Amino acid sequence: MVALARSPRPPDAEVSSFETDVLAGLGATPKRIQAKYFYDGAGSQLFERITEQPEYYPTRSEMRILSEQGADFAKLIPEGAALVEFGSGSSKKARIMLKAAPKLAAYVPVDICGEMIEQEAIDLRPDFPGLKVLPVTADITKPFELPEEAKAAPVRVGFFPGSTIGNFEPHEAAAFLRNAAQILGKGALMIVGADLIKPADTLNAAYNDAAGVTARFNLNLLVRINRELRGDFKLDTFEHHAFYNRERHRIEMHLASLKRQRVKVAGESFDFRAGETIHTENSYKYSVESLGALARGVGWLPVGAWTDPDKFFSIQAFKLGETVTRASF
Ligand code: AVJ
Repeated sequence: MVALARSPRPPDAEVSSFETDVLAGLGATPKRIQAKYFYDGAGSQLFERITEQPEYYPTRSEMRILSEQGADFAKLIPEGAALVEFGSGSSKKARIMLKAAPKLAAYVPVDICGEMIEQEAIDLRPDFPGLKVLPVTADITKPFELPEEAKAAPVRVGFFPGSTIGNFEPHEAAAFLRNAAQILGKGALMIVGADLIKPADTLNAAYNDAAGVTARFNLNLLVRINRELRGDFKLDTFEHHAFYNRERHRIEMHLASLKRQRVKVAGESFDFRAGETIHTENSYKYSVESLGALARGVGWLPVGAWTDPDKFFSIQAFKLGETVTRASF
């Protein structure tokens, strides 16, 4: 094809969907931007720093369950199984699983960021000789093909740690689990990390750390919009708001405009009232029962649940029932 007289195209699909989604979200009432856009380079680094804050318990609680009880849920994993991690990023948690379950024959990290998982695979192979590491670049919310070697394994075990499931609306979490069932197939297991419902004080503190790292993480979204989408957000006119919504069992994060103002993004103008917010994240909290009910609804039967001594976080295991509802997207 001759590349002439074409309108300039963004360098990749992610950039163009970022622009489309941000313009649509700022044009909506109430204003919103999807949480997945937090994770540019700076955002990913800020998230790592959040996990080190004393108030942010989820990562520590989950790591504790994995390292202290990993051997226990590894008993569920049959010989020769393939571990399929959804949205693996850095495979820190998978490493603990792989150590606890030497019966695993293959590890399939799945992530939208191909570069990162290819590098992870290179780093993992020497530490786990005999394990097949088969990275797949894909959007975990959509159907995708597993490598032949993973399909040939006697069973596939899904792994979705980090309470990433909490970023989905409950109906999206159900759709995700239904899609995972289709991908993993007959006899599959699924191991999910989910943050638990708990007193509001603990939750509010975790998303309002004293050092202000979560605030910077939230505001970095505006920095990213300014840089990538020709935005003119004035950072000192927006404030981080995070609070627990008890009725809906979720932490909400917002960016609140401190004054009435007009902001331009990619050539379009958006008006803010004083106090008006952009809703940037929901982080749903579950109980063992509520996640179990959601999973059952799409064919996954609860087979085990593990928590830390504080009962802050859970790792829950499900097995695919005989009757699987067909995925519909
Ligand atoms: C990565 C989605 C699990 O919801 O706790 C941390 C993201 N947001 N602080 C969470 C997050 C603000 C985190 N997850």
